[in-house]
Amino acid sequence: MTSYHINPVKIAVVGDVHEQWENEDAIALKQLGVDLVLFVGDFGNESVEIVRRIAALDLPKAAIMGNHDAWYTASDWGRKRCPYDRNKEDWVQEQLDLLGETHLGYGYLDFPQFQLSVVGSRPFSWGGEVWKNQEFYQERYGVNSFGESVERIVAAAQSAAYETIIFLGHNGPTGLGDKAEDPCGRDWQPLGGDHGDPDLAEAIAQTQALGKNVAFVTFGHMHHSLRHTKEQRRKAIVASPEGTVYWNGASVPRIIQTETNRLRNFSLVSLEANGVSQISLVWVGQDYSVVSEQVFYQRPEAVEVQPVYS
Ligand SMILES: [Fe+2]
Ligand SMILES: [Fe+2]
Repeated sequence: MTSYHINPVKIAVVGDVHEQWENEDAIALKQLGVDLVLFVGDFGNESVEIVRRIAALDLPKAAIMGNHDAWYTASDWGRKRCPYDRNKEDWVQEQLDLLGETHLGYGYLDFPQFQLSVVGSRPFSWGGEVWKNQEFYQERYGVNSFGESVERIVAAAQSAAYETIIFLGHNGPTGLGDKAEDPCGRDWQPLGGDHGDPDLAEAIAQTQALGKNVAFVTFGHMHHSLRHTKEQRRKAIVASPEGTVYWNGASVPRIIQTETNRLRNFSLVSLEANGVSQISLVWVGQDYSVVSEQVFYQRPEAVEVQPVYS
């Protein structure tokens, strides 16, 4: 018997923050009744103060760093623009220290209260099929290739206590489409191509082969608004035949000031009977009411109405 009677776990995915995190965000998450918060990274350009505020959020949570979180450290280009003395300070490490065990790059966290584990992909991902920032990954993680990266991610999944696994990445895996508007599609010239992380795709496949239930994979990095067209938004969801639901939560900007309101967005994901039953994107107003809710996914067998796809 599947356990349909168990209350769904209500997860909020916080898409690329890019400096937009306020005390009101923490209040909004509590008003929404969220059980677990997943941050997909890009807090800012090594924005230690933003990460400090997020680390203080007193809800069950997990996070993974994005490429912007090592903006002045990972590449020669960035180090030339670094605003601090690199011999005296290390803002990447400061961010990691603040998040502590809730940063899941190449790691995992078990959540006994929800009977699931969250496993982190490769942190600080820029995306794409070329192994970038070799020195950075070598120095910080001792990882030298996509192959070694796969091993690290799978090792974390193997160590995780629960059969039901959520993967948390900054960038999504390859295999979700190669059109510009696909969840990890390249929306700059040359237009199109799969910009997903091949190591995450391989790690998911190996974890499934171990018999684990990969219920949900969430990430950001490739923003919903497309660079080459205003006519269309990025496709955010893919549901695989094996029952794994992939969600790009990068609705950027996170916070919008209108003439009469200040709106902040969250992705809300319901997990029940060991799978995703619904995903919606909500905008919360300054009185903490939900101003709009767009349903992107409903599990076909769990509802009587027709499934809704974006
Ligand atoms: Fe971003
Ligand atoms: Fe990013």
